[in-house]
Amino acid sequence: MSSEVRKAVFPAAGLGTRFLPATKASPKEMLPIVDKPMIQYAVEEAEKCGIREFIIITGRNKRTIEDHFDSVMELEVTLKKKGKHSLLNEVQRLNHLHFAYIRQRMPLGLGHAILCSKPVVHNEPFAVMLSDDIIDPEDALLKEMLKCFQKYQSPVLALQKVPKKDVSRYGIIKGIKVDKNLFKIEDLVEKPSPSNAPSNIAIIGRYILTPDIFHFLETVTPGKDGEIQLTDALKALLKTRDIYGYLFEGRRYDAGDKAGFLEATVEFALKNPEVKTQFRKYLLSLKSNLKTRQG
Ligand code: G1P
Repeated sequence: MSSEVRKAVFPAAGLGTRFLPATKASPKEMLPIVDKPMIQYAVEEAEKCGIREFIIITGRNKRTIEDHFDSVMELEVTLKKKGKHSLLNEVQRLNHLHFAYIRQRMPLGLGHAILCSKPVVHNEPFAVMLSDDIIDPEDALLKEMLKCFQKYQSPVLALQKVPKKDVSRYGIIKGIKVDKNLFKIEDLVEKPSPSNAPSNIAIIGRYILTPDIFHFLETVTPGKDGEIQLTDALKALLKTRDIYGYLFEGRRYDAGDKAGFLEATVEFALKNPEVKTQFRKYLLSLKSNLKTRQG
C-alpha cells in the first residue's frame, strides 16, 4: 500500500431532501454559498493538501457537478478577450485536477457509496470528504489528519464535540486521548440515542481511510435505516487494526441543514472581499431591526 494520500472520494448521490424544492432538479452539492457551489469548498480543501485525484460518487440529476469541474472553452475564450483576467483565473483555478465520476445506482447508504469507489481507489489510502460539512478554509483540519496518517499509517477520523442532544445525528466514538487532539478509537456507534451514546464526540465529514475498509464495506450487514453504514464497517475494521481520531476545534458548518447552510453563507459573505463591507453594514442595520421584529 502506498503511504501517500493522493485521492479523495466525495459521496454526492443523496437526494438532498432537506433542501426541497431547490433540489428537485439540481444537486444539493451545487447550491452556492456566496459565489461557489458547496462541493467546491471541500474540493479546494483537499487540493490545498496536495490531493489531485477526485472520485465523485453521483446519481441521477447530478450532471451539473461534472460540468462544473470541466473546462468551459467558450467562457474562457470570452473572458480572455474581454480582459477579465481575475475571473478567468477563478474559472481555471481547478483545471489541473483530475475527476472521475461513478454512479451509485441504489441509495444504499454512505458505506455503499464509498464502496462504489473501490475500482478507482485500488490499493491506496484515500480521503473521504462529505461536502455538507464545510470546514473554514483558515482551519487546517485535513492537513492535521494527513500528518497523523503519515505518523501512524492507520485510518484517521475527524472528530468534534457536539451537544449531547445532537448525538443521534452523528457517528459517535468512544476513545482514549493519546496526544493533543488525538484519540485512539475504542468503539463507534452510528447515530445512538443520547442515553446510549458512549460520549459526545462525533465523527464529522472527513476521513482518511485505508483500502482494507472495502472488505468490511462488502461484508457488513445493513445497519441504521437499513443502509450500509461506514461507521459499522469501521467498527469491524477496528478489530483488525488501530484507528485514530483527530479532535477538530475549529469552525465547521453543517451545510446539509438549512440553518447551517445560512450560517456558512453569512460567515463567508463577511469574508468575501467583494461584498463584505456592504454586507456587514446590512447585518448591523438588521440587528437593530430584529429586536423590534417578532421571533
Ligand atoms: C454521516 C455518517 C455519520 C457522520 C456524519 C458526519 O451521516 O453516517 O457517522 O457522523 O455523516 O456528517 P449523515 O450526515 O450522512 O447522515
